[in-house]
Amino acid sequence: MATCKFFALFFFFLFSLALSQQGSTVQSDGTVDCSNRWIHIRRLPTRFNLDLLANCSEYPLFGDFCPYLANHGLGQKTHNHSYSWYRTDNLMLELIFHRRMLEYPCLTEDPNFADAVYLPYYAALDALRYLYGPEYNSSAEHGLELFEFLQEDEPGIWKRHLGHDHFLVMARPAWDFSQPLGNEPPLWGTSFLELPEFFNVTTLTLESRAWPWQEQAIPYPTSFHPPNLALSDSWIQRVQKSRRSVMAMFAGGGGVSATPNIRRSIRIECENATGNSTISGGYVKLCEIIDCSNGICEHDPIRFMRPMLQASFCLQPPGETPTRRSTFDGILAGCIPVFFEDQSAKLQYGWHLPENDFESFAVFIPKEEVVFKGKKILDVLRRIPRSRVRRMREKILELIPRVLYRKHNSSHGLRAKKDAFDISIDGALKKIQSRLEEVALAQ
Ligand SMILES: *[C@@H]1O[C@H](CO)[C@@H](O)[C@H](O)[C@H]1NC(C)=O
Ligand SMILES: *[C@@H]1O[C@H](CO)[C@@H](O)[C@H](O)[C@H]1NC(C)=O
Ligand SMILES: *[C@@H]1O[C@H](CO)[C@@H](O)[C@H](O)[C@H]1NC(C)=O
Ligand SMILES: *[C@@H]1O[C@H](CO)[C@@H](O)[C@H](O)[C@H]1NC(C)=O
Ligand SMILES: *[C@@H]1O[C@H](CO)[C@@H](O)[C@H](O)[C@H]1NC(C)=O
Ligand SMILES: *[C@@H]1O[C@H](CO)[C@@H](O)[C@H](O)[C@H]1NC(C)=O
Ligand SMILES: *[C@@H]1O[C@H](CO)[C@@H](O)[C@H](O)[C@H]1NC(C)=O
Repeated sequence: MATCKFFALFFFFLFSLALSQQGSTVQSDGTVDCSNRWIHIRRLPTRFNLDLLANCSEYPLFGDFCPYLANHGLGQKTHNHSYSWYRTDNLMLELIFHRRMLEYPCLTEDPNFADAVYLPYYAALDALRYLYGPEYNSSAEHGLELFEFLQEDEPGIWKRHLGHDHFLVMARPAWDFSQPLGNEPPLWGTSFLELPEFFNVTTLTLESRAWPWQEQAIPYPTSFHPPNLALSDSWIQRVQKSRRSVMAMFAGGGGVSATPNIRRSIRIECENATGNSTISGGYVKLCEIIDCSNGICEHDPIRFMRPMLQASFCLQPPGETPTRRSTFDGILAGCIPVFFEDQSAKLQYGWHLPENDFESFAVFIPKEEVVFKGKKILDVLRRIPRSRVRRMREKILELIPRVLYRKHNSSHGLRAKKDAFDISIDGALKKIQSRLEEVALAQ
């Protein structure tokens, strides 16, 4: 408990420092072209962000997330001498994003001059009181307080474009915020994304819904947050050189019940293949399962990163929802992803992963074929020519910089490469611009 308070206060202190410097963050290092890229950070009362961090130990049903606040949301280092590896929690993407926003080179104090308005609202953290707390039955109200504030405090900022130029980050799948209004009693989730009040706002989530809506999916944060180019490059070199002695691996849980599903098929096939001694392709092992049940891997990246470095293919089956953080951990390790449905990545991360060229770095095996038609995953993978595997891995290496969130205040060399944050901002600005054009045409 004492540690939690310590982390919360520590974080609070650092964050307040950064916030107080907000006004002077417009840098011009000569290489930044800010035209059509100006962003205004909306000033929000602390109840919409920092107070939620201070309450990090107040959600008994969810658990204490105070330890993950350290290092501006990157979490604690994996070990004392680590420069790049942290125990990062998905939910902290809202903080990570906010911290990076403060060093965005094209910030403007003047909302009338801005091409977009960022709302530093920790929406998924605020959702905890509805999802796991006493306000469960009021989950249709999630967001209304914020909306009210936006209408009352400097209402001109919203009115200028009726919210079409606003964006925010929600560090959970959109599914968690799309409960239809009027469910009585409420089912899982809040109704934030169903509120007409927020239809005009661009929302960056970890997973989007199957139909086009106001949200766009951006990568889950991994545990790798390099502070400079040398550390980033040396990791990529290590990934490139890593000996892949295992053909396929799956890090996860589930699939232990008798009901047919893709995780169960993977488990059966993988466990069975382990004993097979006739292995080709230079592999020592055909398939390996890293048991991550009960969340034991969540804040312990060493458990899965090492095995991912040693595998050629990483199996990425859907779980409770189609997407998983493991997709990005795997890419980071140079492990070729194997997807079982398009909703797992192809129809999600179009800004970060090449949507029209998915076969160049990923394998797709429809889950129905595996679960109901007896298709063997390992047979499919075994038949992929080694030259093709090599080309796919080269493509993955190119994708690594695009899916990692580098550390805040990183070196200029590293800043020159677009990371997951930079690409998200580019995407949000573009999306907002085309929205504003559509609205203008409709008038
Ligand atoms: C923080 O927790 C206290 C006590 O549970 C509660 O009264 C307060 O409203 C919470 N603040 C926020 C911003 O959730
Ligand atoms: C890591 O550093 C902390 C504080 O600097 C120290 O208390 C702790 O013992 C160190 N842990 C190891 C394993 O060296
Ligand atoms: C929510 O409403 C249901 C039924 O109306 C009730 O049984 C339950 O106790 C309520 N939960 C909370 C946390 O108030
Ligand atoms: C959202 O935009 C539409 C069309 O531009 C507008 O009619 C509506 O009032 C806006 N919603 C809010 C809450 O401002
Ligand atoms: C392993 O494979 C063999 C041969 O295909 C099959 O008979 C057996 O049922 C499988 N074992 C399991 C646990 O599925
Ligand atoms: C082992 O692999 C070979 C081909 O690589 C296959 O023909 C054989 O059925 C497999 N044996 C088991 C028990 O799965
Ligand atoms: C940012 O990094 C530089 C060195 O790279 C360091 O001197 C400076 O103190 C850092 N600033 C903050 C706010 O952490």
